[in-house]
Amino acid sequence: MKVLVTGGAGYIGSHVVKALRDAGHRTAAYDSLIRGHRKAVLAEEFHQGELADRDRLREVIASFRPEAAIHLAALTSVPESVAQPSLYYRQNVEASLTLLEELARVGVGPFVFSSSAAVYGTPERVPVAEDATPRPINPYGETKLAVERMLHWMAGPHGFRAVSLRYFNASGCDPAGEIGEDHDPETHLIPLVYLAAAGRRGQLTVYGDDYDTPDGTCVRDYVHVGDLAHAHVLAVEKLAGLGNGGFHEVLNLGAERGYSVLEVIRAVEKVLGRPVPYEIGPRRPGDAAVLVASSAKARAELGWRPTRSDLETIIRTGWAWHEKHPHGYDD
Ligand SMILES: NC(=O)c1ccc[n+]([C@@H]2O[C@H](COP(=O)([O-])OP(=O)(O)OC[C@H]3O[C@@H](n4cnc5c(N)ncnc54)[C@H](O)[C@@H]3O)[C@@H](O)[C@H]2O)c1
Repeated sequence: MKVLVTGGAGYIGSHVVKALRDAGHRTAAYDSLIRGHRKAVLAEEFHQGELADRDRLREVIASFRPEAAIHLAALTSVPESVAQPSLYYRQNVEASLTLLEELARVGVGPFVFSSSAAVYGTPERVPVAEDATPRPINPYGETKLAVERMLHWMAGPHGFRAVSLRYFNASGCDPAGEIGEDHDPETHLIPLVYLAAAGRRGQLTVYGDDYDTPDGTCVRDYVHVGDLAHAHVLAVEKLAGLGNGGFHEVLNLGAERGYSVLEVIRAVEKVLGRPVPYEIGPRRPGDAAVLVASSAKARAELGWRPTRSDLETIIRTGWAWHEKHPHGYDD
């Protein structure tokens, strides 16, 4: 199958491209490189472009003639979204609308969207399942939910066979070390712990140790990026096989196991064999105490089984890449 991957130069997108390639699919990555890296692109074709650039997008779709699309391109920083909400609505919502309109124009049906656990906000119950009421607590989560709602209404009239995958915390790197994680600024916990352990930044701040959790720090569900990538292959293959469409559905992708911030720090110290300097800071507004997925629906509908999402494999694969590329793709 020919699959257009937006955001294919990013962290998760590059792993999705690799998984598609390994499954025998043909890929074209479309990415502005605003946050991505040319060296991360393993796709057969790379097209640099903004999603909002309708003419460029139309030209790429006309030349590549995709049979399916996976849409990962987005801005992804919660604090940035709070500071610049209009930027997030433009880049994440308006740009997604342009993409959907251009795919609809040429009748591309199978569509996989990168959504996020951020749509849940502070869930009333954990593990959180897809039927929980979404209540985002920041503009980033709102933009993800807005695209899901757009898909809900556009799928029928335009014949999309669409699925929104709500990822929990993507982590780890390609076990072969070909691609990795290089965000600037880095906001994800596990790479921040590596940076602190390696002495590449000051001590790590743990935001709050008085939550209602066993050790008082926040608990999150970490899912290996390779397991996430595999879910995209399963999803796109399933959607392609479904014939005529007109539907949109939502699936959680998480490991269904939570680790606290302190547990992550201890696990990194064990794998790296060195201490992680950290201090306890105040709580950050908007952090839920516990966010852990139920992925029963993805397991049932896609036959998805995470195989690398134990904390040790996540840390080993992530650290192997960071150790080899201390300055990311610029090394
Ligand atoms: N990393 C996580 O834990 C996580 C969790 C939930 C959801 N997600 C979602 O997964 C997707 C990928 O996240 P990531 O961590 O790989 O981020 P990333 O920043 O590494 O990748 C995003 C890519 O999209 C590109 N891009 C952004 N806006 C663009 C635009 N307007 N036009 C063209 N290209 C554009 C960037 O250059 C970058 O290469 C995002 O949609 C994100 O919201 C990520």
